[in-house]
Amino acid sequence: MKKTALIIPFLVFTACAGDNGSGSVDDGSCAWIDSAANSAAVQLAMTAGAIEGDSLFPRSLHTDYSLEQLEQQLEIPVSEFKDEIVLMQHPETNRYRTPMMVKYNDWTSGFFPGSLWYAYELTGKPELMEQAARFTNMVFPVSYMTDTHDLGFMVGCSYGNAYRLAPSDSIKEIVVRTADNLAGRFDATKGVIRSWDFGPWNYPVIIDNMMNLRLLFDAYRITGDKRYAQTAMTHANTTMANHFRPDYTCYHVVSYDNSGRAERKQTFQGKNDDSAWARGQAWALYGYSEIARETGDTAYRNHAVRIADMFIDRNTAPDRIPYWDLDAPVLEATPRDASAAAVVASGMLDLGSQLGEDGRRYIDYAAEILRTLASADYMARPGGNGGFVLMHSTGSLPHGSEIDTPLNYADYYFLEGLVRYKRILGGLEPVEVAFR
Ligand code: GLY
Repeated sequence: MKKTALIIPFLVFTACAGDNGSGSVDDGSCAWIDSAANSAAVQLAMTAGAIEGDSLFPRSLHTDYSLEQLEQQLEIPVSEFKDEIVLMQHPETNRYRTPMMVKYNDWTSGFFPGSLWYAYELTGKPELMEQAARFTNMVFPVSYMTDTHDLGFMVGCSYGNAYRLAPSDSIKEIVVRTADNLAGRFDATKGVIRSWDFGPWNYPVIIDNMMNLRLLFDAYRITGDKRYAQTAMTHANTTMANHFRPDYTCYHVVSYDNSGRAERKQTFQGKNDDSAWARGQAWALYGYSEIARETGDTAYRNHAVRIADMFIDRNTAPDRIPYWDLDAPVLEATPRDASAAAVVASGMLDLGSQLGEDGRRYIDYAAEILRTLASADYMARPGGNGGFVLMHSTGSLPHGSEIDTPLNYADYYFLEGLVRYKRILGGLEPVEVAFR
């Protein structure tokens, strides 16, 4: 397959512009951001350098856990756990942490290259740009995939950032082809893009799918074809109507019958069907903030504000890094989800910047999360943590998978948050839109 050629980038941050009078909790010096970015850059460069070949991406560490811990968190007996639970213990020791590497077709394949791009943007280190280009090129076959909705994550986070920092026409082709495949999963009767091709559901749509819509707006910007944007908005409207509860928490999975009626509302990765799975709430907040910015539509913006207010209210973790599910029993060992925290922070920076003076509450909340994630409680020292930047995320507790572990998407949204916050402190819009 032909691979894209990446050209020399032209934009990196050098320093903060100082206090811009935004009234933020930060003094504008950016020292802590630069320190976190430099540590992350060292860690990511080491990780990239240690991976040989052109097929594997780091995703997480397999972690151990006890069935008692899962019983406590889910508040149901082990006999009722989902059938698909996978024991992740090391086969010999039963208690171990081992790297999980994935190929291009894993939903997380775009995050490691994306993190390298953000680390490059924050530090200007040329070796990061080289590794970012190398791992981005490895995502190329995704542009031919048709069997998942995760295409926005995979191609947007890799090639989308590549285009901002090293534009080339071949990237535009990749983005449009991928967007066509994503739009090909849209069903006009139901008004939504199908998420999964597996499982017991007739037509499953998960809240995470809101994160894939930016790719359609990118394709609209590249081609001028409004149908991409219309598809994204229809999906967002249908999801707004069916995924949310009166308190603005959301279900994880909604399945539609053939007539377009939402026939099942459930969880897959949360505590139970009616709980507020932390990362699901984070995807919702980020997704509606993003489509509000893309469209300027106040209905989306108001929805994002309500989700953000709900999250601030419902997140009871003392340091603001949420428990894996906002309805999980709070015990000493209740796992956190740093990935949800990072997604919320990045999303709130986007939302807050759209709201003028009213947005300061969200920007400050996001900055506090980012500062906590940048502390030794969550950020690993270079050389440790299996080569990842952040500790203490949770992938899917009900499946016994990736509990209290690093995750490549926690790293990605943390670094994105740092970029966005630094831009705000420098008097810029937090989100630099690609393909303008
Ligand atoms: N999109 C899958 C997850 O959030 O775990």
